[in-house]
Amino acid sequence: MAPRKLAAGNWKMNGTLAALAEIDQLLADHPQPDCDVLICPPATLIHPMVGRAAGSVLNVGGQDCHAGAPGAHTGDIAAEQLHDAGASHVILGHSERRSDHGDTDADVHAKSVAAHQAGLVAVICVGETEGQRDGGQTLDVIASQLAGSVPDCATAANTVIAYEPVWAIGTGRTPSNDQIAEVHALMRDRLAARFPDGGDFALLYGGSVKPGNAAEIFAIAHVDGALVGGASLKAADFGPIIAALAAS
Ligand code: 13P
Repeated sequence: MAPRKLAAGNWKMNGTLAALAEIDQLLADHPQPDCDVLICPPATLIHPMVGRAAGSVLNVGGQDCHAGAPGAHTGDIAAEQLHDAGASHVILGHSERRSDHGDTDADVHAKSVAAHQAGLVAVICVGETEGQRDGGQTLDVIASQLAGSVPDCATAANTVIAYEPVWAIGTGRTPSNDQIAEVHALMRDRLAARFPDGGDFALLYGGSVKPGNAAEIFAIAHVDGALVGGASLKAADFGPIIAALAAS
């Protein structure tokens, strides 16, 4: 089984109810793309987006979850609550959660287990800082984050890995094709060595993916899709990225 292709949008802390019009446009333009499509809006929009996307190809996900059961954790959301709201996926370990909220690999590991127990697909993010790349540490950092963040219960069906170099997020800068290929080959090797179906995990690239560079990125070996920030907010930008992935 080859990895499934996935075009995933991370809306981050953007969007109000009015932004759901973008979903209508996206689905009108791409009703049956030849790839999976996911948008992870802010928590306030998960349930209304699920309703708006009912019967369509669009999957809806969260951007983080708590590792524990529902209880006294003000401001947090349990994995089972995301599932109850209609989410199918949850992004975990995004670099903005790691830097803004101090999420460690151990936290991401625990949250991933909670996501799996709730029936969610965990989209686990890894990525080096610019200093780590300049210091020649990229492959060690990625291998270490993978080992620490991905739990033993991960399978190709319940886990997606996203390589997002921190210095490429929201900057308009992207790694070279060779740099992306090198990291994705490492991730594929490590997953295949650890999991019986490690060859089938979908591996996404994220960081300044745009309509203009998507096709080139999707042609790189072991790139099975993208995790898109800014360019996922507008149907006019995300639509061509979906089309490029479907055609790849
Ligand atoms: P940009 O596509 O805006 O660079 O963001 C990438 C990202 O962080 C997706 O999770």
